[in-house]
Amino acid sequence: MKKIAVFTSGGDSPGMNACLRAVVRTAVYHKLEIAGIMHGYDGMIKNEFITMNSKSVANIIHRGGTILKTARSKDFLTIEGRQTALTNLKNHHIDGLVAIGGDGTFKGALEFSKISDIPLVGCPGTIDNDLVGTDFTIGYDTAINTVVEAVDKIRDTAESHDRLFFVEVMGRDAGLIALRAGIGVGAESIIIPETKTDVEDLIHRLANGRKSKSSKIIIVAEGDEAGGAFTIAEKVKARLPEYDTRVTILGHIQRGGNPSAMDRVNSSRIGFSAVEALLQGKTNVMIGIVDKNIVYTPFQNAVKHIQELNPDLMRMVNILSL
Ligand code: F6P
Repeated sequence: MKKIAVFTSGGDSPGMNACLRAVVRTAVYHKLEIAGIMHGYDGMIKNEFITMNSKSVANIIHRGGTILKTARSKDFLTIEGRQTALTNLKNHHIDGLVAIGGDGTFKGALEFSKISDIPLVGCPGTIDNDLVGTDFTIGYDTAINTVVEAVDKIRDTAESHDRLFFVEVMGRDAGLIALRAGIGVGAESIIIPETKTDVEDLIHRLANGRKSKSSKIIIVAEGDEAGGAFTIAEKVKARLPEYDTRVTILGHIQRGGNPSAMDRVNSSRIGFSAVEALLQGKTNVMIGIVDKNIVYTPFQNAVKHIQELNPDLMRMVNILSL
């Protein structure tokens, strides 16, 4: 292996830059040439390759976003797109690839492996934490902290006005941001796609809940099957007009910001291990950290988001919110 390439893909997440830095510096240490591909799979198709060295990743460990830019490539979904990408990689003499992204990125990598013989390993970069084979994806911890900070502020105003707030957080398919942040802010209820949402039960709980509590915060994952925060809030408002109800959608602020210390450390370990995994001959695996140890999970297993949540955790959530 003489030359490898690295790219970031899908939704950006805080810590992607720290991961990229680790990939580039580890490659340099092992005397590998290293290329960066701009705009993920799109750039692979459009031939957006740049030469990288230790200096190109200086001073980025603390920065959110990704200096390589990112995209959700439609062209890579086509066989023609993937073939063009492969031709470009061959023309640039790429012997190995490191992808930093989420489940869409790894699903794309699996499709690509049907026509490509270039080894490819993945680093889990997504705020959603919806990958199997790592305790924390890159960016999840920062996103949780962003949500907690925002909801603490909402709590101040909610408490002052005795209001009921529905706060929608990101997570198209997964409620893991909602769950962890909801515990962190002491939410009165957490609505996530992994559990069946019973709006009637929520109304009942609100109607009969502890009256001494003046503010109430309900965290809603955007991907919940009962609808987003607006839809659920409308149903509740219609039945409980006595509540002064408001809705806040946190949106993309959850994807930005300086990565937390935990995200920087995890990203560094994962990026470093990704290059060493390529050198050890590994391919089509995601590098993760489970119980503090580096583990390698085949992409086909990594993308199977587990729907069952820890029942003890769910029980605790219900007890603490009473
Ligand atoms: O995959 C991460 C994520 O932030 C999801 O939580 C969210 O649903 C989605 O990306 C939003 O994507 P986009 O920025 O492309 O609208």
